[in-house]
Amino acid sequence: VIAPGPELARLAADAVEGVVRAHAAAGDRPAVLGIATGSSPLAVYDELARRHTEEGLSFAGVRAFMLDEYVGLPAEHPERYRNVIETEFASRVDIDPADVHGPDGLATDIPGACAAYEAAIAETDGVDVQILGVGTDGHIAFNEPGSSLASRTRIKTLTRQTREDNARFFDGDVAQVPTHCLTQGLATIMSARHVVLLAQGKHKAEAVHQLVEGPVSAMWPGTVLQHHPHVTILVDEAAGGRL
Ligand code: GLP
Repeated sequence: VIAPGPELARLAADAVEGVVRAHAAAGDRPAVLGIATGSSPLAVYDELARRHTEEGLSFAGVRAFMLDEYVGLPAEHPERYRNVIETEFASRVDIDPADVHGPDGLATDIPGACAAYEAAIAETDGVDVQILGVGTDGHIAFNEPGSSLASRTRIKTLTRQTREDNARFFDGDVAQVPTHCLTQGLATIMSARHVVLLAQGKHKAEAVHQLVEGPVSAMWPGTVLQHHPHVTILVDEAAGGRL
């Protein structure tokens, strides 16, 4: 879909609301959401918070799994993804904070923390809808170019490009951006039932072009989504400019 930003946010919110309400109505189990950081999903969280407040959309019992986390940021750091999600989404709706999960970037046993995170996702019936952005270099979550298409949650080194892109969240100072992260792997993301990817702006045009039309390759990690049976790509005119 190519549409203006506010419309994209509404469409993504519709996908989330759909699974939340469907499971609430069926009474089988609460929905399982995959949530993302970065600027692309912020308007989606605004829209979900609005629907919670104005339309009674309830997230009670819903479980949410984050895509990734920086390694080593202090627990109280505002840019720690756990805190970003708390500020931008969790605190604005009625989800139980104990139901919001993310990889533990402060773990001393990193491989153990990654395995525990995979196990926590596997204990659910699977992620119903995964909100996703894409990096200018084609990364999804923090699966940088060269990531195995079969990867699971693990530690990764951030590329210089990504650290520069994210420096805007750290006083514009790339030196303050962590060098490592924990991220769901590409195979983890592929196991979600429905993936909703948002991208806006000309700087995303090449990544969106590769993701949709390029050859499937670890050099453009988002291209793995071409093998997914249910992906919705939501872009504005600029990000869709090379399609
Ligand atoms: C970050 C996140 C990704 C996100 C990407 C794009 O590095 N780890 O999950 O998709 O950047 O971010 P933005 O939406 O701010 O352009």
